[in-house]
Amino acid sequence: MKNLYIVANWKENKTTDEAIRWLREISPSINSGQTILNKKVIVCPSFMLVPQVWQFIKSNNLPIEIGVQDISRFDEGAHTGEVSAREAAEYAKFSIIGHSERRALGETDEDVQEKVEMAVKNDIESIVCVVNENVPIPTGAKIVAYEPIEAIGTGNPDTPENAEKVAHLVKSKTPQVSYVLYGGSVTSENVKNFTSMDHIDGVLVGGASLDPVEFSSIIKQC
Ligand code: PGA
Repeated sequence: MKNLYIVANWKENKTTDEAIRWLREISPSINSGQTILNKKVIVCPSFMLVPQVWQFIKSNNLPIEIGVQDISRFDEGAHTGEVSAREAAEYAKFSIIGHSERRALGETDEDVQEKVEMAVKNDIESIVCVVNENVPIPTGAKIVAYEPIEAIGTGNPDTPENAEKVAHLVKSKTPQVSYVLYGGSVTSENVKNFTSMDHIDGVLVGGASLDPVEFSSIIKQC
């Protein structure tokens, strides 16, 4: 049985109360051993929510890891509005880097490279998002999420066959990459079609991760 990464990207959603309610609601299903065995569940809340989500997971001993949605490309210092990898590493083991929604705001391949360097330096595992197999993957990134833009938030996922083709290409072009996740309109109904592909090692879930019932069903189905 291969290991799978199931990543919830909450984006700019949820207040603290809503985040804690989500955790409470998902706890019973996530605590039932078999669902989780070979699955690493990672929740990526906004920075505002990270400490409280971390605290809840810790106090309730939940098998969930925390990821952040971005990190600064700078080391600590005079960078107003930024969150350094060193600060994020207090709570997070993972960081999404180079999501297409950030690239659309001007983030470049060079920024992504620098952010991955910061992540490596601070023991954070990067989840680098790419829209196809030609996007450069920085040294140090072992997890890649293939997310075609037209599939994000549209209800029109890529075909599992094409996602598998891209995942295979990414791994053969960049041997340092051990895991390729698929993202873009993943639901409990289609997740298995992706995770049953040989080279797809999990999913990055946006919209469908916001509802704890749907997300726990994604974890079960994959
Ligand atoms: P979606 O988003 O699941 O809502 O399509 C995925 C993502 O942007 O990571």
